[in-house]
Amino acid sequence: MTTPTIELKPSSSPLSDAEREAILANPGFGRHFTDHMVIIRWTEGRGWHDGELVPYGPLSLDPATNVLHYAQEIFEGLKAYRRPDGSVASFRPDANARRFQRSAHRLGMPELPVETFIEACDVLVRQDEAWVPAHGGEASLYLRPFMIATEVGLGVRPANEYLFVVIASPAGPYFPGGVKPVSIWASEDRVRAVPGGMGDAKTGGNYAASLLAQAEAAAKGCDQVCYLDAVEHKWVEELGGMNLYFVYGNKIVTPTLSGSILEGITRDSLLQVARDLGYEAEEARVSIDQWQQDTENGSLTEVFACGTAAVITPVGTVKSARGEWQQSGGQPGEVTMKLREALLAIQTGKAEDVHGWMHEL
Ligand code: PLP
Ligand code: COI
Repeated sequence: MTTPTIELKPSSSPLSDAEREAILANPGFGRHFTDHMVIIRWTEGRGWHDGELVPYGPLSLDPATNVLHYAQEIFEGLKAYRRPDGSVASFRPDANARRFQRSAHRLGMPELPVETFIEACDVLVRQDEAWVPAHGGEASLYLRPFMIATEVGLGVRPANEYLFVVIASPAGPYFPGGVKPVSIWASEDRVRAVPGGMGDAKTGGNYAASLLAQAEAAAKGCDQVCYLDAVEHKWVEELGGMNLYFVYGNKIVTPTLSGSILEGITRDSLLQVARDLGYEAEEARVSIDQWQQDTENGSLTEVFACGTAAVITPVGTVKSARGEWQQSGGQPGEVTMKLREALLAIQTGKAEDVHGWMHEL
């Protein structure tokens, strides 16, 4: 695999300090973007080439560009944090780079070398470092690397040209209102992904497939949809953009990877962080019936969702065709909050990085 260099062509008109500070005071999620982006091209026979850091701006695409018709697209999400000493570090970019390669493989796309993925993120964060929110809160700089098929034509086959792009967005809480339990609609008819499909790849199509169910959940007064497996419609998989954890006293359990679940990096990190804190942590199949029964008999003490954008978010109310129930009295649970604090402490540089997860610029 070729590893291109990234040529720096910085913007001559970045936002002023005052404009940027006004955005950083209340960034929201995914609403504002930094001054630059990195792009790298791939062409059949040539490999990766023409890496550039350029001013953030629109991409110009022919209407017959492959991705617009057949959705050959993948993306990632990771965060860079300001540390107590003012330096900046990103969380497990190597894990995102490897997942990006797995997604590329599943979508018939070329695999970007891990070191190029990390370098592209680093170049952008270094250039736009002033956009990384201050240490002290939970805000961070969210990085969104993605790749699209750019060959022009309507033939249905893997494209012979691709564009890899990294953009960055300052991020406050994904759910406005701080750490507030989310309500969940457990959908027994709509599925997100099927065995042999691409549920374990991070590709836009999976999110498109989730939007109608998400709108239906909102109509039922719920914040998020929980998807069940596509065959028996009984095994809990994940939410549209987060994995799930069940807390049984001192043990946390997350659904076993089924091929149709996205292998979350937060999910994986929490298996370790929980063990570090003295909890048991395991992967197991959990059915929607078990979820309801174990809540009712008191053995299932808390449920939480986790992901890069959402960090750790407690689950409050659960609604499904079989009824409605509440987790931990609709309040954030104690184990949920301990894990949340421990993970954020590592990410923001307050706690020692014993697993070598933080990547310094
Ligand atoms: N599941 C889905 C469908 C997601 O979109 C995400 C978010 O990236 C996750 C799980 C959590 O993954 P990670 O912890 O790597 O962000
Ligand atoms: C993330 O947590 O990075 C995600 O991709 C979830 C969502 C914003 C799609």
